[in-house]
Amino acid sequence: MPTYRFPRDFLWGAATAAHQVEGGNRLNDWWPFEQSGRLPYRSGEACRHWELFEQDFDLARDLGHNAHRLSLEWSRIEPEPGRFDETARAHYDAVIDALLARGLEPVVTLHHFTNPQWLAEAGGWLNARAVERFARYVGHAARRYGDRVRWWLTVNEPTVVAKHAYVVGDWPPGEKGAWGKALRMIAATCREHRRAYRVIHAIRPDAMVSFAHSCPWVVPCDPNRPQDRLVARARDFFLNDLCFHLVSERGRPLLDFVALNYYTRTIVRWKPEGKALRFGADCLEDHHGEPRRYNDMGAEICPDGLLAVLRDHTRFGLPLMITENGVATTDAALRTDYLRGHLAALGRAVAEGLDVRGYLHWTLMDNFEWALGTTARFGLAHTDFTTQKRTPRPAAELFRRVCLTNELVVPEVGQAPVPEIAEPATAAEKVC
Ligand code: FCB
Repeated sequence: MPTYRFPRDFLWGAATAAHQVEGGNRLNDWWPFEQSGRLPYRSGEACRHWELFEQDFDLARDLGHNAHRLSLEWSRIEPEPGRFDETARAHYDAVIDALLARGLEPVVTLHHFTNPQWLAEAGGWLNARAVERFARYVGHAARRYGDRVRWWLTVNEPTVVAKHAYVVGDWPPGEKGAWGKALRMIAATCREHRRAYRVIHAIRPDAMVSFAHSCPWVVPCDPNRPQDRLVARARDFFLNDLCFHLVSERGRPLLDFVALNYYTRTIVRWKPEGKALRFGADCLEDHHGEPRRYNDMGAEICPDGLLAVLRDHTRFGLPLMITENGVATTDAALRTDYLRGHLAALGRAVAEGLDVRGYLHWTLMDNFEWALGTTARFGLAHTDFTTQKRTPRPAAELFRRVCLTNELVVPEVGQAPVPEIAEPATAAEKVC
């Protein structure tokens, strides 16, 4: 049976984001957007992680993790411009201390999709002073927590948030088809990253700083067809390369490591009409004679892509980390299989000598999945949103063994063990 080995100090854990788990985040731009009825879901109490964080970190520790990615909620820390709230700052002290006490290395995201309402009302990232404002908040956070936090992610997925906020319109501020604003937002977010990078390093010179990049594996439908190659390249440039150019100075990205959120492959084919003209159309056909598999959100499941994107990003000569990877499903066998397949791809990357430092699974427990509410279930643990009970799923046990042994043994085809614990039933619960 193939066995993959990982370095002794490899970081293993799960990733979360404040608005998705904490509950009661009334001061950011998502809250009024949810209340306005533009979405069928509200974050409400979410996972009540604001109160239950110690119990959740016990769970992470019991599941074998030695790292944890979380985000600070800017709107709690700075509820009004220039006013920094001591209760919120002390809360995150307690959160970070609770992680360290359990042997969990904190990986801290400074901005995970939500803006304080005061910034959103002034135009959000498109406000000319947003960079200054963000840098000031980052300085506060780095001074306060920098003694205990070495791994920092400045912003999460600039291309994804720009797309949803200004093109699809299902995230605040909810504008549709505003491509110009989306591009300006990506540029602004990358500028924020560059400023934040410097601010953090001035406070903690040995910090490891990156932004979290959403990184689909983009491939042409027919690699022998120049038109398919052209549109796939255009799409790949826009989705994957652009941000790295924008965070660069004198040809080098201002990063200490490359943080990749990998979920899916996108197969692109030439379609010379309408919107597809520049970036092609998604090909949904089966390829290479194998049926393609999808998660509950319609994203293709493709473990090979994880290896491909890791290889691709070695071009910067920096350490790599998977800062998100996971699957929305209610099928226990699929979740376990997804995890095993992606960890095997990670193992192949390590065996090839790639400098991968960690893997953070999305996510610890089912949470508020933005515009999809609680319908998309990514958790290693199931969350019952009525009782707030967390129940680890079979995949959590597979992951636990890997975290504790730094080894993944992949059964031969047909020999995969049947999950030992049944997937908890997912009722049609809503957070509200
Ligand atoms: C990523 C986001 C994260 C979560 C997962 C499923 O794009 O960073 O918050 O929504 O997708």
